[in-house]
Amino acid sequence: MTKRKLGRGVAVIGAGMSKFGCYNGMATRDLFVEAYREMLASVDRGFDPRDIEAVYIANYSADLFEGQAHMAPLMTDWVGLSPRPATRVEDACASGSAALRQGMLAVASGLYDVVMVGGVEKMSELPTEKVTDTLATASDVVYEAAVGFTFPALYAAMATAYLHEYGADPQVFLQVGYKNHEHGALNPKAQFGQRIREIMEARKASAARKGLPVPEWNDEFEFLRDPRANPYIAWPLRLYDCSPISDGAAVVLLVSEEIARQFSDAPLYIIGSGQASDAATHDRATLTSLPAARRAAQQAYEMANITPQDVGAVEVHDCFTIAEIIASEDLGFFAPGEGWKAAEDGVTSLKGTRPINSSGGLKSKGHPVGASGVGQVVEIWHQLRGEAGERQIPGSPAIGLTHNVGGTGQTCVVNIFERR
Ligand code: COA
Repeated sequence: MTKRKLGRGVAVIGAGMSKFGCYNGMATRDLFVEAYREMLASVDRGFDPRDIEAVYIANYSADLFEGQAHMAPLMTDWVGLSPRPATRVEDACASGSAALRQGMLAVASGLYDVVMVGGVEKMSELPTEKVTDTLATASDVVYEAAVGFTFPALYAAMATAYLHEYGADPQVFLQVGYKNHEHGALNPKAQFGQRIREIMEARKASAARKGLPVPEWNDEFEFLRDPRANPYIAWPLRLYDCSPISDGAAVVLLVSEEIARQFSDAPLYIIGSGQASDAATHDRATLTSLPAARRAAQQAYEMANITPQDVGAVEVHDCFTIAEIIASEDLGFFAPGEGWKAAEDGVTSLKGTRPINSSGGLKSKGHPVGASGVGQVVEIWHQLRGEAGERQIPGSPAIGLTHNVGGTGQTCVVNIFERR
């Protein structure tokens, strides 16, 4: 494979996001403004937005979620940046990282010095069945959706294949969901800012208040094993294996490496980037790995001239718990078939030696699809700058990685950042 490099260096000098959640009655554009304002405030030495030269906006499908297409100029105008060139980027759930890559390429090419990259999605306007249909348009509609595969079902097929191929214990999925809720509870921007224990206790209290029998769960795992509390969505995946339906926005600011320190005391340099595509699941040799993720990761590691062991902070695309386990192998942190054991042993928790998804991941932080990839960068921004508060990864990591998947791996983008 050709080793690629950027025409010139690119740095992130600002990052912000709205709180992810479900916001009935709040306009999508106002979520975007929330993220934009936080991004501006995060630039250490101040920044005049008039210096932004171009805008890239990730959005999966406001067309279908809200009946509103053409989101890039709309968001750009709403924050007062017309008439900057504004381009929408759509690569399903990987739209955010694909937009970051487009912004990076625009700066690296020398065309612009300052580019804003945003992601935005509002899914909660539709009922769950319609959200499921809308998401399914990102699969191969002829070979997957038309024969009944929704996204939970596709990832359930991958989970089943993984259990079969590696003899994994299905209980491990509960542990991944549990861990990401523990992390999300430390993230004020997370949709589910609650530990499983808190959700369990709230359920008991609610039953008691209503005079109903109070469930006798002794611990979080009894709660998670109870099909009344954690029903199957598509076997073996249950409710707490799924990322939720979410609204949210995230924004980052990119500049050329030469001017980064004019604005920021601690810029993050984009040192590696990879992207690959693939057929849908019906036409793949394996269901227990995403070849596009492996290729994207290899490109990104080669460009950055690092190995997986050099990465300290990692945000992976855990749209379902199985996806986090597979990602941990595809990114080279664990050998094939070993990721589930690492998850079971707590290696991937904040207290472990290879923390994954300190933000709570898509599972707990939320998954407003077009915004998710940019939201991952916001977490890496906080982690590498030592600003992640209670969820700060010990040892002050200098290198962070984002892994963002479109569909079941028809697209994968991996970006690597370094604080110098
Ligand atoms: N994890 C944990 N709890 C969840 C949840 C999730 N993913 N989704 C909903 N809940 C909770 C709600 O907060 C609510 O709790 P409450 O009763 O205490 O208020 C309860 O479950 C019911 O919520 P509701 O919105 O009615 O759930 P739902 O059955 O309509 O939707 C899913 C649940 C799993 C079907 C939905 O979240 C989903 O489709 N997720 C996958 C999204 C997806 O495919 N994304 C793209 C990936 S590639």
